This record gives sequence, C-alpha cells and structure tokens, in this order.
Amino acid sequence: MKEIDSSLREYCEGQILPLYESFDKAHGPEHVRTVIANSLELAESLLVEGGEINLDMVYTVAVYHDVGIRYGRKNHEAASGKWLMEDETLKRWFTEEQRQTMREAVEDHRASRQEPPRNLYGRIVSEADRDLEPGRIVRRCMEYGLANCPELSAEEQISRTLEHVRDKYGEGGYLHLWLPCPKNEQGLATLREWLKTGELEKKCRAWLQKENAEKKEKEKSSMEFRKMRRKNQDIPMEECLEILQRGTAGVLAVQGDGEYPYAVPLSFVYREGKLYFHCAREGHKLDALQRSAKASFCVIGQDKIVPEEYTTYYRSVIAFGQAELIEDEKEQHDALFALAEKYCPGDTPAHREEKSTGTAGYTAVIRFTVEHITGKEGKALAQQRSTAPAVQA
Ligand SMILES: [Fe+2]
Ligand SMILES: [Fe+2]
Repeated sequence: MKEIDSSLREYCEGQILPLYESFDKAHGPEHVRTVIANSLELAESLLVEGGEINLDMVYTVAVYHDVGIRYGRKNHEAASGKWLMEDETLKRWFTEEQRQTMREAVEDHRASRQEPPRNLYGRIVSEADRDLEPGRIVRRCMEYGLANCPELSAEEQISRTLEHVRDKYGEGGYLHLWLPCPKNEQGLATLREWLKTGELEKKCRAWLQKENAEKKEKEKSSMEFRKMRRKNQDIPMEECLEILQRGTAGVLAVQGDGEYPYAVPLSFVYREGKLYFHCAREGHKLDALQRSAKASFCVIGQDKIVPEEYTTYYRSVIAFGQAELIEDEKEQHDALFALAEKYCPGDTPAHREEKSTGTAGYTAVIRFTVEHITGKEGKALAQQRSTAPAVQA
C-alpha cells in the first residue's frame, strides 16, 4: 500500500491531531485514530477492486473530520470542513479542487445525513466514522452521556444510550451504510440483536458499574491525607483509638446545604474501624450524606484549661472516612446494641435487647468507615510524653 506523504503526516501529527486531546472522550484522540485507520483500510479494499483513490486525501479527511468539535457538537461537520478549507498549509500538498473535495467529504460525514455523501471521500470517512464495533458504541454513547448530560441518574444514562442506539442503529434507524463494509454490516447486525434480546441494556449497566468502580478506586489511590504539621504533637495510634473508644460525644462534619460544612454533635460507638451513630430517619445530615459520603468526626479526649500558663492541655482526634446509612436490619440492630452497651452499661442484656430491637424500625443508623485518623495534643502534654521514663514491660 502507498505510504502517506511524510511531510503531510508530520504536519497533521504535530498540529492537528493534538487538538483532539481537549475534546470529550467520544471524540478524542482514540476516536480520530480509529477513523484514520478505518478510512485507510476501507480505501485499500476499494483500491484492490481497482478504484482510483488519493490516499493522502483519505488520510487528511479523516484527520480533520471532527476538528470542528472545538466549537461544539452541533454543526461540527461544517466547522471542520471550513477549517480544512482555510488551512493555508494544506496548499502545499493539495490543489484548490482537491481541498474543495475534501471539504465536502468532511461536511458530509454526519451520521444522521439522509442523502449519500457527495463524493467517494465522504463515503469513506462516513463509513469509517461509524466505527461499528458494538462494545465501543456502548462505551462511546455512555461516555458522551456522562460528559454532556451529567445531571442524569445512572438509570437515565442507560435509557439515553438505549434510545440513541435504537434511533440510530435499530431497524429503520437513521444510519445508512454508504459503502460495502463487512465489518460495519456485522457490527450493525450484532447491535440489532443486542437491542432485541436486552443484551444492550446489560452491557450498558456493566459498563457503568465498571466505570464507577474504577473512578472510586482512582479517587482512593489519588487521595493522600495530609500529614500533621507539628509532628512532635502527634498522638500515637493506640491512644487515638482509646480516645475514640472512651469518648462520649463527638462532632460529625458533612457537606451540608449550600456547600456549608454541617458539623453536628453526636453520641457514638467505635467498633473495629467503624463508628456508629443513630439519628432520625430524615434531616440535614442524611440529605448531606446522600450528596457525599465523605465525612470527618472529631472527638475531644481532654480539654484542661491551665490559666497560669495561658494554655489548655488538650488531646483530640479526627477520623476521616465514608459515612452511610445502614440498610441491613441485623447490622442496624448490632450497632444499636453496641450503643446501648456503651451508654447504659448497668442495664440488663434483656432490656438492652428489647430497646435495640424496638428502635431498629424507626431509627436511622449510620456506619462511618474510618479511612484515616489523626490525633493531636497540646505542647505541654507532648513534652511530658517525650520526657517520661520508658515503661518497663
Ligand atoms: Fe463527527
Ligand atoms: Fe467522528
């Protein structure tokens, strides 16, 4: 197969293709490269059949076909065509007539176009742009929805994709295949099958789950809790946990209404890396946790005022983590029972059990999974700690 002119390729690689890096994922660098590869593959099969095709033009049309996305998706075909036509540098390789042909080709690549593209280059890029690989279509439609309709819920995102695929690729859909291309014909048949059997909905759901899991994982690994500024005032971890175990009240901070932090004092119990709270089944706190599960919880272990030293001997702990409503009845009961054990230690187990069971139905219980803990104490306490003789075991 004839090679693309090296200086043309160099220009497109250096000046035009990088523009795609700022576009939405569905029109990004991966997409344009797929369209280039598909276009050249299609052109090659037509050449084998004895057609007359200028591969430099095929390549250039593919490179420029979505560049107009920079000005928005609507009418991007016209904007891309105009861009190609007005690019003075392209005059080095193409005549006025060739540039006009390429402009028409780019303008005609719109998938919803009902008339055939005006020239062969338009048919090639349109067919290459179909990229009718069913898995990729699911991914691109979902990605487009997430990027452009972020207000939609997960279920609405799936419905949007199903509706789009049905309108475009379903029986009687607006997509036309302009050239014989076995790969696209096969892809279209598979998509129609998926629409009929419900497989398409399953694929969308699976894609979304995977995407959400990856996003969570990424957030987790990129989030690094900051280190304490004054290292020497750190409280050792076992003492932080002791403060969480012994404390009887703390302040839960969540992302409240209007982005104001909402910090609310609560009773709590700490058990194996988790904090549990109980509260009414509706209110500011639960609404905030619906928006974001990220929260912090502060417990003051000691706050002794020493006026003669103009200071306080304090110890406090802050736990960071994810807080969510417990749905499971058994876990809810166990958390309430643990709260009863802590706050009513003199009660009989039978009455404690009765209270925990009776409350479970109408009380909300929050589980706060601790991800990070910091503890800090006043300077004087830190000094005492550093000068205290080591305890012999
Ligand atoms: Fe396009
Ligand atoms: Fe495209």
